[in-house]
Amino acid sequence: MPNEGSTFEFGRSMRPHFLLEDDYIPLNHGSYGTFPKVVREALQGYQNKIESNPDKFMRRDLESELHKARETVSKFINVEVNEIVFVQNTTTGINAILKSLKYEKGDKLLYLSTVYSSIRELLMFIQENNHENVELVEIEANYPLSEDDLIDKIVRVIQEENQKPNMRIKLAVIDSISSNPGVVFPFQRLIPILRQNDILSIVDGAHAIGQIPLDIKEINPDFFVTNCHKWLYTARSSAILYVPLKHQKKIHPTVTSPFTADGFIPEFSWTGTQDFSSYLTIHAALEFRKKIGGEEKIRNYCKKLAIEGGKKIASILGTEIIGPENVIQNMVNIRLPILVSNKEFSEKKFIDLMLNNYNFAVAIFEHNGHWYIRASAQIYTDIDDFEKVGHIVKEICDSF
Ligand SMILES: Cc1ncc(COP(=O)(O)O)c(C=O)c1O
Repeated sequence: MPNEGSTFEFGRSMRPHFLLEDDYIPLNHGSYGTFPKVVREALQGYQNKIESNPDKFMRRDLESELHKARETVSKFINVEVNEIVFVQNTTTGINAILKSLKYEKGDKLLYLSTVYSSIRELLMFIQENNHENVELVEIEANYPLSEDDLIDKIVRVIQEENQKPNMRIKLAVIDSISSNPGVVFPFQRLIPILRQNDILSIVDGAHAIGQIPLDIKEINPDFFVTNCHKWLYTARSSAILYVPLKHQKKIHPTVTSPFTADGFIPEFSWTGTQDFSSYLTIHAALEFRKKIGGEEKIRNYCKKLAIEGGKKIASILGTEIIGPENVIQNMVNIRLPILVSNKEFSEKKFIDLMLNNYNFAVAIFEHNGHWYIRASAQIYTDIDDFEKVGHIVKEICDSF
């Protein structure tokens, strides 16, 4: 008997399962995510339940509902249920970690030039607030770049920095998959190297859960944050903050909780009144994924489409994608045939045309002296979407 998932064919035929407009070409799942109708129904179900009796929910049910949701996701990423909490998004989770840690004179914070913009701002904020103590060490990561070359470069920087007197690298913020460009980063390989050098590993896994397999026990980072609303199909917004028991006493939410004295889980579970429904949609999201065929089927479809679709767009534009293929999972980066010296062209003009004139979506950014777009493959997209976007983007580029 065929398994249930084989009845779901990915591509355009999955569009009725989502709320997306018919004439919109959605190749930008990576920025905000989107969720299926069944998750929307679960979300509305929780909201209706809460509104039917807010007191019962907040005073009586919330704690156990959050526990059940944490239990479900803890199994999915192989972690103890008392080592994770929900936070609104990755930005909130990484803020909690970096603003909770204490910094001493000579501490250095390591990160790559591909760090997400708001996390770079956060690192600068930490430095400004500890200006006597903290130094930032940025490692240039210019793609195309092989995994080995990047790891070698990071190891070299760590060795050089360690030789300088009276300073130590306290922590490193590393991506699981960076944003611009959207490339897979070998964080699993780097964590043991960081640990050997007494450096705390903070993984910005904004794009991780639902895109790449995660076994947190095996990966064993010091801290990990991942958005469920991007690739896992929960309602927006919802993220997981992982803090192992050994670090929990020193990490607090950025917004102070009335339950600060009660420990990690209660403290993070209530940082003021909010709508908790999106966190509870984790059950529906995981059920949907199972029903349509499971993690491997989703991953394989998206990776294959990202590579084929990226190459299709690049061939229309007469350019190339960022490789090698092992840096690609669900997102692919394609060079635009526009010089950065062309001041007629800008990100804002591209986005205005994209949204107002053509109704498609990709991410656009400058990297290593070139303009790129980042296209996301999803189970509701197919090669025709990439081809259409290739022709539209060519028309836009030709107009400059
Ligand atoms: C690598 C990376 N880190 C952090 C973030 C921030 O995520 P959020 O806006 O959900 O906090 C993003 C968002 O796209 C990202 O790509």
